[in-house]
Amino acid sequence: MAGRKIALTGIQPSGTAHIGNYLGMIRPALDLVRSYDAYYFLADEHALTSVREPKALLDYTYEMAATLLALGLDPEKVVMYRQSDIPAVFELSWILSCVTPKGLLNRAHAYKAAVDENETAKRPPDDGVSMGLYSYPVLMAADILIVDGNVVPVGADQKQHVEMARDIAEAFNRQYGDVLVLPEPLIQEGVATIAGLDGRKMSKSYGNLIPIFAPAAEQRKLVMRIVTDSRPPEEPKDPATDNLFRIYEHFAGQDKVEVMRKRYLEGGVGYGEVKEDLAAVLDETFSGPRAEYEELMANRSKLDSILVDGASRANAVAGATLNRVKKAAGLTS
Ligand code: TRP
Repeated sequence: MAGRKIALTGIQPSGTAHIGNYLGMIRPALDLVRSYDAYYFLADEHALTSVREPKALLDYTYEMAATLLALGLDPEKVVMYRQSDIPAVFELSWILSCVTPKGLLNRAHAYKAAVDENETAKRPPDDGVSMGLYSYPVLMAADILIVDGNVVPVGADQKQHVEMARDIAEAFNRQYGDVLVLPEPLIQEGVATIAGLDGRKMSKSYGNLIPIFAPAAEQRKLVMRIVTDSRPPEEPKDPATDNLFRIYEHFAGQDKVEVMRKRYLEGGVGYGEVKEDLAAVLDETFSGPRAEYEELMANRSKLDSILVDGASRANAVAGATLNRVKKAAGLTS
């Protein structure tokens, strides 16, 4: 549709998608499709900074594509593609790196965290830091700027990267004129964050996650492992501080949630019962999409053709932007 703003976001295929990803990023991004022209891509070149196992990277990429499709991404409405299928992104990344002050990248959270960790461990500051990790924000700027993205739906942890993309676009425009669209981060209000099985942030590195499409029996087993306190059923409990309830409330329907909240406060519900209920609710939520996911995963050629189609649409837009940029910079006439 003409005149709509462009939303773009990338998802790193660096692990199996879990229910925290679903609430925090996948569902909100799919909701935005109603109001924006959307470009959603699999950031496999970014994932290369951490995934060193080729088969794993490829598998995660297909898994993530199948996950998005199974959860309702319509490839007719959203341009979904794999980052490495769009060579113009990488060309733009170099051009942008030539207007990016090195000091800007020194301030990136991920890089600073790596340096801090090295300093604490009394290692040289850049120990184990690849140029890929260091230049990560420039590649991300190229992802965004290549499609003239207006808004970038991301979690709060990625806000700095989007702001850097904007700074880099401004630096380019200052030098070469009004060429690049300035993007803004879109941090969606009310997006749920949930903790993992052990109460820490749900993350692959903590091994505390519930995969979206694990078989129901496995999902149930994981739910049973969610850590709770040792209060007996009859004792009243505070739903606001219970990790189990805080997962439950995002998946069960409003009415069920209110009933459960009351039972917590009054006493009379045991954690075992809540876990059974949560496992059932997760199965209700994901069993339809799971069937579709499994079908897609068994049919890579279908996934390939969707990705090829997305790449050809993205390449058309990316090629035009790159041409504009190269003209502005004197790389072509
Ligand atoms: N860095 C993002 C993340 O880890 C993934 C990403 C790569 C991205 N390129 C992007 C997000 C461009 C938004 C726009 O979550």
